[in-house]
Formats: sequence, C-alpha cells, structure tokens
Amino acid sequence: MFQKFGIVPTDGPPRDRDADDPGRLAITGRARDQGVFRVPSLRNVGVTGPYYHDGRIETLAGAVDLMARRQLGKVLVSKEVDLIVQFLHTLTGTYQGKWLMRAKEDTSS
Ligand code: HEM
Repeated sequence: MFQKFGIVPTDGPPRDRDADDPGRLAITGRARDQGVFRVPSLRNVGVTGPYYHDGRIETLAGAVDLMARRQLGKVLVSKEVDLIVQFLHTLTGTYQGKWLMRAKEDTSS
C-alpha cells in the first residue's frame, strides 16, 4: 500500500528534509500524494538496511523507533524496540538454500 510518511508531526531535520520530498506526487501528479511512499514488505527487513526510501536510518532499531514516533505518535522504550526488532528478524528467510545476511552487520541489537 501507499501511506503518508510522517503522519505525526515532529520537529527537527527529518521533517525539514521531508518537506522537499514529493514522494508519490512525482509519479501521479496528485496533490494528495505529497509525502506518500510505498510501504515496503517487511519480509527479510532484518538484512535490507539502510532503511526507508532514502536510506536515512542505518539500523532496524532506529527504523522501528522512527515508525512508532512518526506513524503512531508513540515513544517506545528500548525493551519494546528490542522485542519488535527480534520479531522482525524472524521474517528473514533463505534464498537458494542459504540464509540471507546483511552485507554490513547491523550491530543495533
Ligand atoms: C510499530 C509499527 C511499525 C513498524 C515496526 C514499522 C516498521 C517499518 C520498517 C522497518 C520500515 C522500513 C522498511 C525498509 O526500508 O525496508 C517501514 C517503512 C514504512 N512504514 Fe512502517 N512500521 C510501523 C508502522 C507503520 C504505520 C502505522 C504506517 C502508516 C500508517 C507505516 C508506514 C510506512 C511507510 C510509508 C514506510 C516507507 C517509508 C519510506 O520509504 O520512506 N508504518 N516501516
């Protein structure tokens, strides 16, 4: 699906940067698509960082923390982030019989 990135307003650099990013508007020309991006499948997300359309976040824990803040308006404690990250790592699978691995190891958790 497509969703607005940054539903919950926040201060600081990410929002400033996002104000200039047309997102899906660049494809459709529809004003309502300003700042809208494809929600990526989370399959294999543990090995596909850096995260988001512009690779702004290096670690999965950082991506989960930002999602909670900007999409849900919630601040997670690190234990909650850790548990979600552990769950997301269960979505990593095999390709041609071999476990997928991230080229550069994510040391966030
Ligand atoms: C705790 C709940 C959530 C978790 C753990 C989560 C996790 C993630 C992760 C890990 C990514 C990065 C994927 C990648 O770059 O490969 C992502 C991207 C994204 N998520 Fe979430 N998400 C959550 C809630 C939401 C909600 C509620 C929405 C929308 C209503 C949303 C919309 C998006 C969008 C649009 C992107 C792509 C943004 C971009 O490429 O810049 N997420 N999510």
